[in-house]
Amino acid sequence: MPLVTTKEMFEKAYEGGYAIGAFNVNNMEIVQGITEAAAENNSAVILQVSKGARAYANHEYLMKLVEAAIANYPDLPIALHLDHGPDFETCKACIDGGFTSVMIDGSSLPFEENIALSKKVVDYAHAHGVVVEAELGTLAGIEDDVVVEEGNASYTKPEEVEEFVRRTGCDSLAIAIGTSHGAYKFKPGTNPELRFDVLEEVSKRLPGFPIVLHGASSVPQEFVDTINEYGGAMPGAIGVPEDQLRKAAKSAVCKINIDSDIRLAITASIRQYMAEHPDHFDPRQYLKPARQAVKDMVAHKIVNVLGSNDSI
Ligand code: G3H
Ligand code: 13P
Ligand code: ZN
Repeated sequence: MPLVTTKEMFEKAYEGGYAIGAFNVNNMEIVQGITEAAAENNSAVILQVSKGARAYANHEYLMKLVEAAIANYPDLPIALHLDHGPDFETCKACIDGGFTSVMIDGSSLPFEENIALSKKVVDYAHAHGVVVEAELGTLAGIEDDVVVEEGNASYTKPEEVEEFVRRTGCDSLAIAIGTSHGAYKFKPGTNPELRFDVLEEVSKRLPGFPIVLHGASSVPQEFVDTINEYGGAMPGAIGVPEDQLRKAAKSAVCKINIDSDIRLAITASIRQYMAEHPDHFDPRQYLKPARQAVKDMVAHKIVNVLGSNDSI
């Protein structure tokens, strides 16, 4: 089937009490690992591309990789989404270039400016059959080249969401409830707790409306340990506990974004492989297990965290 939007995926996920995984793609092995896991577990999937991914791999290469995945898995519903669209022009380029979903990230702008920018993207996207994710509230962490210090992050204000969604016409809303981007989300020794009270208040005000969680990698400690054991240095890397993500997936949260866990899976695999095979130099030898590590991680998320297995 051709690329789909997230509309039907989110309707089914909301009804079914699960979430769709949105995984960032940057190269062939990542696209293959994710889509193989989704197809084997009968789960719809969102492949998302950041501004940085477009700069790294080039729009055309990424489109062709996704087209190849569609050809390999003709029954798998795949949405192609722009992650953290920074401006109207980038969103327009992705809409014109074949994406079925875009995010306009106006979360760092004042409320009225965020509304104006998001609405401009929605108007253009909807005229072209594309859906739009907007964001209200600010996550901490690193996304593309923007670093938001913990002190400058702010939870979404539930009293703002109805007006924001009504005036922008967006199709889904990313909110800030304590997740953050990157591999260092919480201080070692603290107890990571998402603000489920904020999530509940938002979903009460927007019945039936799909909510999105960014910064939702769980930073599996086995990856961190492997990286540290084989020459890496990632002390204190901590993610969102999986049981909290599972709880979120059962609520109005219909899309959960995962990128750092992909990076960790690949890095752990390659570091271990290199250490154990110092004489190997064929990239296929170490990229093959790295691709398998992505697939295994995504399959684990689909079954144990998102709950989206056997939903197509
Ligand atoms: O939230 C940002 C994603 O992890 C994408 O990261 O901009 O380094 O591709 P990137
Ligand atoms: P992580 O850094 O937690 O993987 O978040 C990814 C993300 O939100 C992409 O938009
Ligand atoms: Zn994000």
